[in-house]
Amino acid sequence: MKKNTVAGNWKMNTTLKDGINLINEIINKSESIKNTDLIITPPYTHLSEFNKLLENSTIKLAAQNIADNEFGAFTGEVSAPMLKEIGVSKVIIGHSERRAYYHEGFDFLKRKVDCAISSGLGPIFCCGEILEQRKNNKQEEVVKEQLFESLFHLDKDSFSEVIIAYEPVWAIGTGVSATSNEAQEMHAYIRSLIKNKYGSSMAENTTILYGGSCKPSNAKELFACPDIDGGLIGGASLKSADFIEIAKSF
Ligand code: PGA
Repeated sequence: MKKNTVAGNWKMNTTLKDGINLINEIINKSESIKNTDLIITPPYTHLSEFNKLLENSTIKLAAQNIADNEFGAFTGEVSAPMLKEIGVSKVIIGHSERRAYYHEGFDFLKRKVDCAISSGLGPIFCCGEILEQRKNNKQEEVVKEQLFESLFHLDKDSFSEVIIAYEPVWAIGTGVSATSNEAQEMHAYIRSLIKNKYGSSMAENTTILYGGSCKPSNAKELFACPDIDGGLIGGASLKSADFIEIAKSF
Protein backbone atom coordinates (compact mmCIF):
# COMPACT_ATOMS: atom_id res chain seq x y z
CA MET A 1 0.00 0.00 0.00
CA LYS A 2 1.36 3.39 -1.03
CA LYS A 3 2.40 5.52 1.92
CA ASN A 4 4.38 8.67 2.41
CA THR A 5 7.84 7.29 2.97
CA VAL A 6 11.22 8.77 3.80
CA ALA A 7 14.20 6.44 3.78
CA GLY A 8 17.70 7.34 4.92
CA ASN A 9 20.53 5.72 2.98
CA TRP A 10 23.54 6.16 5.21
CA LYS A 11 25.88 4.52 2.67
CA MET A 12 29.35 3.75 4.09
CA ASN A 13 29.11 6.36 6.84
CA THR A 14 29.33 6.25 10.64
CA THR A 15 31.11 3.79 12.88
CA LEU A 16 28.77 1.78 15.09
CA LYS A 17 29.33 4.22 17.96
CA ASP A 18 28.47 7.27 15.83
CA GLY A 19 25.59 5.38 14.25
CA ILE A 20 24.04 4.62 17.64
CA ASN A 21 24.16 8.31 18.55
CA LEU A 22 22.53 9.23 15.25
CA ILE A 23 19.78 6.61 15.41
CA ASN A 24 18.95 7.60 18.99
CA GLU A 25 18.57 11.23 17.92
CA ILE A 26 16.35 10.16 15.03
CA ILE A 27 14.22 7.93 17.28
CA ASN A 28 13.67 10.80 19.71
CA LYS A 29 12.86 13.34 17.04
CA SER A 30 10.62 10.97 15.09
CA GLU A 31 8.05 10.62 17.83
CA SER A 32 6.00 13.53 16.48
CA ILE A 33 5.85 12.03 12.98
CA LYS A 34 2.62 10.33 12.07
CA ASN A 35 1.41 9.01 8.72
CA THR A 36 4.89 8.80 7.22
CA ASP A 37 6.89 5.60 7.09
CA LEU A 38 10.50 6.08 8.12
CA ILE A 39 13.17 3.64 6.98
CA ILE A 40 16.81 3.64 8.06
CA THR A 41 19.48 1.93 5.98
CA PRO A 42 22.72 1.83 7.96
CA PRO A 43 25.84 -0.22 7.25
CA TYR A 44 25.60 -3.99 7.90
CA THR A 45 27.63 -3.72 11.11
CA HIS A 46 24.87 -1.63 12.74
CA LEU A 47 21.83 -3.71 11.87
CA SER A 48 21.68 -6.11 14.77
CA GLU A 49 22.16 -3.42 17.37
CA PHE A 50 19.70 -1.08 15.65
CA ASN A 51 17.10 -3.82 15.61
CA LYS A 52 17.18 -3.74 19.42
CA LEU A 53 17.19 0.07 19.60
CA LEU A 54 14.18 0.25 17.26
CA GLU A 55 12.11 -2.23 19.28
CA ASN A 56 9.61 0.39 20.44
CA SER A 57 9.79 2.55 17.35
CA THR A 58 7.86 2.39 14.08
CA ILE A 59 11.05 3.08 12.11
CA LYS A 60 11.81 0.21 9.75
CA LEU A 61 15.24 -1.26 9.26
CA ALA A 62 16.67 -1.82 5.79
CA ALA A 63 19.97 -3.09 4.41
CA GLN A 64 21.98 -1.42 1.63
CA ASN A 65 22.71 -4.59 -0.31
CA ILE A 66 22.26 -8.37 -0.39
CA ALA A 67 23.94 -11.31 -2.04
CA ASP A 68 22.43 -12.98 -5.09
CA ASN A 69 22.55 -16.34 -3.30
CA GLU A 70 21.25 -17.57 0.04
CA PHE A 71 24.19 -19.51 1.48
CA GLY A 72 27.47 -20.98 0.34
CA ALA A 73 31.03 -20.22 -0.69
CA PHE A 74 30.66 -16.52 -1.47
CA THR A 75 33.34 -14.85 0.64
CA GLY A 76 32.37 -11.40 1.85
CA GLU A 77 28.68 -11.64 0.99
CA VAL A 78 25.66 -11.25 3.27
CA SER A 79 22.39 -12.90 2.29
CA ALA A 80 18.69 -12.17 2.61
CA PRO A 81 17.90 -14.90 5.20
CA MET A 82 20.73 -13.59 7.42
CA LEU A 83 19.31 -10.09 7.24
CA LYS A 84 15.75 -11.20 7.76
CA GLU A 85 16.72 -13.00 10.96
CA ILE A 86 18.14 -9.83 12.54
CA GLY A 87 15.05 -7.71 11.95
CA VAL A 88 15.70 -6.24 8.52
CA SER A 89 12.51 -5.81 6.49
CA LYS A 90 13.71 -4.08 3.32
CA VAL A 91 16.79 -3.88 1.15
CA ILE A 92 18.13 -1.42 -1.42
CA ILE A 93 18.81 -3.11 -4.75
CA GLY A 94 20.25 -1.51 -7.87
CA HIS A 95 21.66 1.65 -6.33
CA SER A 96 23.62 3.55 -8.98
CA GLU A 97 26.79 3.37 -6.88
CA ARG A 98 26.62 -0.41 -6.98
CA ARG A 99 25.75 -0.44 -10.67
CA ALA A 100 28.71 1.86 -11.43
CA TYR A 101 31.48 0.89 -8.96
CA TYR A 102 30.72 -2.83 -8.57
CA HIS A 103 29.44 -3.42 -12.10
CA GLU A 104 26.12 -4.89 -10.99
CA GLY A 105 24.22 -5.73 -14.15
CA PHE A 106 20.64 -6.55 -15.02
CA ASP A 107 20.71 -10.32 -14.37
CA PHE A 108 22.67 -9.99 -11.16
CA LEU A 109 20.16 -7.45 -9.84
CA LYS A 110 17.28 -9.65 -10.93
CA ARG A 111 18.69 -12.50 -8.82
CA LYS A 112 19.05 -10.14 -5.85
CA VAL A 113 15.42 -9.09 -6.25
CA ASP A 114 14.39 -12.76 -6.23
CA CYS A 115 16.51 -13.51 -3.15
CA ALA A 116 14.95 -10.56 -1.30
CA ILE A 117 11.41 -11.62 -2.18
CA SER A 118 11.92 -15.27 -1.28
CA SER A 119 13.17 -14.29 2.19
CA GLY A 120 10.38 -11.77 2.75
CA LEU A 121 12.47 -8.63 2.32
CA GLY A 122 10.87 -5.78 0.38
CA PRO A 123 13.16 -4.48 -2.37
CA ILE A 124 13.76 -0.74 -2.58
CA PHE A 125 14.64 -0.86 -6.24
CA CYS A 126 16.69 2.07 -7.57
CA CYS A 127 16.64 3.26 -11.15
CA GLY A 128 17.85 6.37 -12.92
CA GLU A 129 19.83 7.75 -15.80
CA ILE A 130 23.28 9.34 -16.00
CA LEU A 131 23.73 12.92 -17.17
CA GLU A 132 24.69 12.06 -20.72
CA GLN A 133 21.55 9.95 -21.12
CA ARG A 134 19.39 12.84 -19.92
CA LYS A 135 21.17 15.25 -22.24
CA ASN A 136 20.27 12.89 -25.09
CA ASN A 137 16.71 12.63 -23.82
CA LYS A 138 17.13 8.89 -23.21
CA GLN A 139 16.06 8.91 -19.55
CA GLU A 140 12.75 7.11 -20.06
CA GLU A 141 14.30 4.43 -22.23
CA VAL A 142 17.03 3.84 -19.63
CA VAL A 143 14.68 3.60 -16.67
CA LYS A 144 12.27 1.38 -18.59
CA GLU A 145 15.07 -1.05 -19.39
CA GLN A 146 16.28 -1.11 -15.76
CA LEU A 147 12.76 -1.93 -14.56
CA PHE A 148 11.99 -4.51 -17.23
CA GLU A 149 15.34 -6.30 -17.01
CA SER A 150 15.58 -6.71 -13.23
CA LEU A 151 12.19 -6.10 -11.61
CA PHE A 152 9.16 -6.53 -13.83
CA HIS A 153 9.55 -10.32 -13.98
CA LEU A 154 7.92 -10.44 -10.53
CA ASP A 155 4.37 -11.65 -10.22
CA LYS A 156 1.72 -9.34 -8.78
CA ASP A 157 1.96 -10.60 -5.22
CA SER A 158 5.71 -10.16 -5.10
CA PHE A 159 5.64 -6.81 -6.86
CA SER A 160 3.30 -5.46 -4.19
CA GLU A 161 6.28 -5.66 -1.76
CA VAL A 162 8.41 -3.35 -3.91
CA ILE A 163 9.26 0.32 -3.39
CA ILE A 164 10.79 2.07 -6.40
CA ALA A 165 13.32 4.88 -5.99
CA TYR A 166 13.94 7.10 -9.00
CA GLU A 167 17.42 8.51 -8.54
CA PRO A 168 18.89 10.45 -11.46
CA VAL A 169 22.58 9.69 -11.12
CA TRP A 170 23.60 13.28 -11.91
CA ALA A 171 21.66 14.44 -8.85
CA ILE A 172 23.14 12.00 -6.32
CA GLY A 173 25.50 13.65 -3.88
CA THR A 174 25.98 16.64 -6.20
CA GLY A 175 23.78 19.15 -4.41
CA VAL A 176 21.86 19.59 -7.67
CA SER A 177 18.47 17.97 -7.38
CA ALA A 178 16.18 17.24 -10.31
CA THR A 179 13.55 19.95 -10.59
CA SER A 180 10.14 18.97 -9.31
CA ASN A 181 8.92 18.95 -12.93
CA GLU A 182 11.68 16.61 -14.08
CA ALA A 183 11.09 14.29 -11.14
CA GLN A 184 7.30 14.33 -11.44
CA GLU A 185 7.51 13.60 -15.16
CA MET A 186 9.64 10.50 -14.56
CA HIS A 187 7.55 9.31 -11.60
CA ALA A 188 4.39 9.58 -13.71
CA TYR A 189 6.14 7.63 -16.45
CA ILE A 190 7.22 4.88 -14.01
CA ARG A 191 3.66 4.70 -12.68
CA SER A 192 2.36 4.33 -16.24
CA LEU A 193 4.77 1.42 -16.81
CA ILE A 194 3.49 -0.25 -13.64
CA LYS A 195 -0.07 0.32 -14.80
CA ASN A 196 0.57 -1.32 -18.16
CA LYS A 197 2.29 -4.28 -16.57
CA TYR A 198 0.37 -4.82 -13.32
CA GLY A 199 -2.86 -2.80 -13.64
CA SER A 200 -4.11 0.50 -12.26
CA SER A 201 -4.65 -0.53 -8.68
CA MET A 202 -1.02 -1.69 -8.41
CA ALA A 203 0.13 1.54 -10.07
CA GLU A 204 -1.81 3.64 -7.59
CA ASN A 205 -0.56 1.62 -4.63
CA THR A 206 3.15 1.47 -5.46
CA THR A 207 5.37 3.81 -3.48
CA ILE A 208 7.76 5.71 -5.74
CA LEU A 209 10.48 7.70 -3.98
CA TYR A 210 12.69 10.42 -5.39
CA GLY A 211 16.41 10.42 -4.53
CA GLY A 212 19.24 12.75 -5.44
CA SER A 213 20.19 15.80 -3.35
CA CYS A 214 16.83 15.84 -1.61
CA LYS A 215 17.14 18.13 1.42
CA PRO A 216 15.00 20.24 3.75
CA SER A 217 15.02 23.17 1.30
CA ASN A 218 13.55 21.24 -1.65
CA ALA A 219 11.66 18.31 -0.08
CA LYS A 220 8.33 20.16 0.21
CA GLU A 221 8.24 21.07 -3.46
CA LEU A 222 9.25 17.57 -4.54
CA PHE A 223 6.83 15.77 -2.21
CA ALA A 224 3.95 18.02 -3.32
CA CYS A 225 4.10 16.39 -6.78
CA PRO A 226 1.25 13.92 -7.29
CA ASP A 227 3.47 10.94 -8.19
CA ILE A 228 6.27 11.51 -5.67
CA ASP A 229 5.54 9.57 -2.48
CA GLY A 230 8.64 10.57 -0.56
CA GLY A 231 12.40 10.35 -0.75
CA LEU A 232 15.47 8.18 -0.53
CA ILE A 233 17.86 10.48 1.25
CA GLY A 234 21.64 10.14 1.27
CA GLY A 235 23.72 13.03 2.63
CA ALA A 236 20.88 14.78 4.44
CA SER A 237 19.94 11.58 6.30
CA LEU A 238 23.18 11.81 8.30
CA LYS A 239 21.92 14.85 10.20
CA SER A 240 18.97 13.96 12.39
CA ALA A 241 17.43 17.45 12.23
CA ASP A 242 17.56 17.52 8.41
CA PHE A 243 16.25 13.99 8.07
CA ILE A 244 13.30 14.71 10.35
CA GLU A 245 12.58 18.02 8.64
CA ILE A 246 12.44 16.18 5.31
CA ALA A 247 10.09 13.63 6.87
CA LYS A 248 7.79 16.49 7.87
CA SER A 249 7.71 17.92 4.35
CA PHE A 250 4.48 16.32 3.14
P1 PGA B 1 22.05 12.05 -1.87
O1 PGA B 1 21.99 10.49 -2.15
O2 PGA B 1 20.77 12.40 -1.12
O3 PGA B 1 23.27 12.27 -1.04
O4 PGA B 1 22.09 12.74 -3.19
C1 PGA B 1 20.80 9.80 -2.45
C2 PGA B 1 21.07 8.34 -2.67
O5 PGA B 1 22.13 7.98 -3.21
O6 PGA B 1 20.24 7.49 -2.32
